[in-house]
Amino acid sequence: MKRIGILTSGGDCPGLNAVIRGAVKTSQQLGYECVGFLRGYEGLVDPVSYKTLNAKNTSGILNQGGTILGSTNKGRFVARTGVDNREELDIELLAGVKVTCEQLNIAGLVCIGGDGSLSIAQQFHEYGIPVVGVPKTIDNDLSATAYTFGFDSAVSCATDALDRLHTTAAAHDRVLVLEVMGRHAGWIALHAGIAGGGDVILLPEIPWTFEGVCRKILDREQSGKKFTLVVVAEGAHMPDGGLVTRERRAENRQVALGGIGNVVASEIQSRLGRETRCVVLGHLQRGGPPTTFDRVLATQFGAFAVDCIHRGELGRMVAFNPPAVESVWIRDAVSKLRTVDPDCSAVKAARSLGISFGDCPQPRAHNSKPATTVVAAETPILAEV
Ligand code: F6P
Repeated sequence: MKRIGILTSGGDCPGLNAVIRGAVKTSQQLGYECVGFLRGYEGLVDPVSYKTLNAKNTSGILNQGGTILGSTNKGRFVARTGVDNREELDIELLAGVKVTCEQLNIAGLVCIGGDGSLSIAQQFHEYGIPVVGVPKTIDNDLSATAYTFGFDSAVSCATDALDRLHTTAAAHDRVLVLEVMGRHAGWIALHAGIAGGGDVILLPEIPWTFEGVCRKILDREQSGKKFTLVVVAEGAHMPDGGLVTRERRAENRQVALGGIGNVVASEIQSRLGRETRCVVLGHLQRGGPPTTFDRVLATQFGAFAVDCIHRGELGRMVAFNPPAVESVWIRDAVSKLRTVDPDCSAVKAARSLGISFGDCPQPRAHNSKPATTVVAAETPILAEV
């Protein structure tokens, strides 16, 4: 019997199980058996580890966070970002995956992942392994699709946090800084900042200064608002161009970002003498049940991916470009990250509401060299880009 293979790769996000369920149900309608490979691409080779997926063992998973197949963003199948950083896979590894697919009679592998994972899927395709990609990332930074599943759930989590921070900030006349995920793109910060009534939003895409941030806080005070909410993406560059990281770049791993919220909060406190606190939302954004939007999107993605395999459309990634769910080439989705356009309608609308992006009067040149590496309070490290 022909089979569909399914795997979840990279950092998890809400909606992975909904994709799996959608793919399994559709496979059954079309007469395929389904196998789920365990721990991302690792389950494809040495040792091959998978389980048969059916109506029974995928029942009730639609609203469950995480992934019943497990996932990893490290190991032999290194997930790197974008085409320029593409890590060529070991040819023996590729050969092993091909053998596994042939032995299990896999008509197509549904690879559910973000940019790093899908650039591996692209290499599979080039090697003749039958794949279809499903775009997953809370960061929403894949090209060729307007939305990835997981993003809406992360934004909803960050918005809920802002709603809660709003009342306590107002009660104590405090500045509260919320650090959200967003490695290369500030979509979560932008959307949550708008939805949660943020006053300052700091993104990787818009250069900012502490003067710009402090000016907004003082302007608010002058107009009678004694509290301010600042939303900062973990990947926002410091005014000197550096990134704040939790650890130095390990061999074969992306550097772990995090800590900019605390850096921003302590600088505000020392410049203005205002009581300033920071909350780092972290992996709360990646856990828990998917939102309604993500359930619908993920279900459609799972169903459409199997349809693609059935039609023989391989090397494609399912995409949502409203109103259509369609397929695009995986290579087009991973060749360039989709970042926030500083002139997009959401940024313009935010500005027209008075939201500050901490812009400096004279923006730093994008190619200017970041200043020296400085170790910030506690563990965060300011690293060069
Ligand atoms: O790519 C999604 C993402 O959530 C990034 O925003 C973040 O930098 C990264 O994953 C963290 O991944 P992990 O903690 O699993 O290494």
